[in-house]
Amino acid sequence: MMEWTDRHCRYFLRLISKETFLYTEMVTAEAILRGNRERLLGFDPAEHPVALQIGGSDPKSLAAAARIGADLGYDEINLNVGCPSDRVQSGRFGACLMAEPALVADCIAAMGAEAGVPITVKCRIGIDDQDTEESLDRFIDAVAEGGCTTFILHARKAWLQGLSPKENRDVPPIDYGRVYRVKAGRPGLTIIVNGGIGTLDEAVAHLTHVDGVMLGRAAYQDPYLLAGVDSLLFGRAEVPPSRLEVLDRFMAYAEGELARGSRLNQLTRHILGLFHGQKRARSFRRLLAEGAHLDGAGIEVLQAARRIVAGESRHAIAAE
Ligand SMILES: Cc1cc2nc3c(=O)[nH]c(=O)nc-3n(C[C@H](O)[C@H](O)[C@H](O)COP(=O)(O)O)c2cc1C
Repeated sequence: MMEWTDRHCRYFLRLISKETFLYTEMVTAEAILRGNRERLLGFDPAEHPVALQIGGSDPKSLAAAARIGADLGYDEINLNVGCPSDRVQSGRFGACLMAEPALVADCIAAMGAEAGVPITVKCRIGIDDQDTEESLDRFIDAVAEGGCTTFILHARKAWLQGLSPKENRDVPPIDYGRVYRVKAGRPGLTIIVNGGIGTLDEAVAHLTHVDGVMLGRAAYQDPYLLAGVDSLLFGRAEVPPSRLEVLDRFMAYAEGELARGSRLNQLTRHILGLFHGQKRARSFRRLLAEGAHLDGAGIEVLQAARRIVAGESRHAIAAE
């Protein structure tokens, strides 16, 4: 997710769950080919398994970008066919590509030939006045012909005119049934449902119909919900780290990143929800939100925030 799932965020989420598959923000193929690769694509080996999401519609550039991502060690390359923003439409990629299944199939085939890792697609169930039955079937079948066997379907249409990207994540009605029917008609494809899923119980219910569940906003706003993933969905026996243990490990990472020149708030903005629903969560958030962006803010701000959630700071307890 743009501005959200950068490398610091992914490192943090990986501290909570070992099995969850993580996705980068969308990076355009052109940026990968021409931009600063370390800044755009650098990641920590601890983040595996991790997918690089690419935006674009030119098979050649996408293939070259996918190759670069695979060579850097990304486990999967995902093509964005779901983003409705104007900026993206004028570049002719994102959700508007749902109207061009043959082109998407060419892109997938070109990327697959270069990359040597799975190439997947994230898309909507339709755009504008498309008929979500017929058009989506045509899209999935054409793109599968290009070699894509895994589709992540955001279970709502995107309206390319008249709705902002934010509205396009909430206003068009959710239709999980449409996603289930894609799977029912094509048992050989891996179908992952996305959109409006807020709890692991909901995820488990979806898994009776599809192969996987993608969480976006819920995982960002309440990241510790991922702590149940490894045991509940993957049958792992270990007890997940507590929130405080996650915070301690993230603090060790933050010290290293600060020493490398990162600003504290670039790191801490992703962990504001770690204590979501817990006592003293509000004081934790406030201290980080107010303290971490100040010039020269260092690890002591995180240490103070830790004292709050550990119940060691009387001042903060009184303020809650
Ligand atoms: C801040 C933000 C940025 C997003 N950026 C991307 C993106 O880069 N690529 C993408 O495929 N979807 C992106 N999305 C959409 C989400 O991946 C997801 O499809 C959508 O939010 C619905 O799922 P959710 O209800 O679980 O959040 C973004 C969503 C948000 C809130």
